[in-house]
Amino acid sequence: MPIVAPSLLAANFLQLDKECQMVNESEAQWLHLDVMDGRFVPNISFGLPVISQVTKANKKISDVHLMILEPEKYAEAFRDAGADNLHVHIEACPNLHRNIEQIKMLGMKAGVAINPHTPVADLKDIIQDIDIVNLMSVNPGFGGQKFIAHTIKKIQELRKMIDGQNLTVKIVIDGGVTVDNAASILRAGADVLVVGSTVFSSPDPKETIRKLINTKYA
Ligand code: DX5
Ligand code: ZN
Repeated sequence: MPIVAPSLLAANFLQLDKECQMVNESEAQWLHLDVMDGRFVPNISFGLPVISQVTKANKKISDVHLMILEPEKYAEAFRDAGADNLHVHIEACPNLHRNIEQIKMLGMKAGVAINPHTPVADLKDIIQDIDIVNLMSVNPGFGGQKFIAHTIKKIQELRKMIDGQNLTVKIVIDGGVTVDNAASILRAGADVLVVGSTVFSSPDPKETIRKLINTKYA
């Protein structure tokens, strides 16, 4: 069964406590937290003060997706704020291996996020060092965008790369995931579905999470 990670970006920020309780009561295993700096991506979301409060309320794994330049300056602060998984963007890290070592040394799971235009092959010399790949299925910066269909081919290619080396790296798909496209994403080889608007805009978010986790895709 897939891991489902509701993305707090789509939550009602006036009711974060309630939204966290909903996720706690749901079958979701991770909570996805999107950090944007207005430089790496053309939007600004929330940062350390919000995340350190949210992780106190959250009982699930805190999956922090940094869409920021120079993430090495903040890795320790996000660890202190309660991050369990920390994703940095390959496009933002000229010394990616150093970023990965730093994240692991701080005791977090290390994730590498790649944009829709970045080839899966660019992960070839880092895949054995990381815990998670966050494969972006939309251009990062905003929730509620349409899933980019070409991502399916990238998932298949990444699955081959991981299985070919007997690695346990998890494939996270982030952006535009719906109840309708979840099966094809999972069939292609994804392990984790990040789901923002599909969960938080649905009339019954817990039921939507349950449906996603129970997606039939054999
Ligand atoms: C986009 C973020 C995503 C976003 C997904 O930059 O990385 O995590 O919250 O939202 P939906 O599911 O609405 O596409
Ligand atoms: Zn994200």
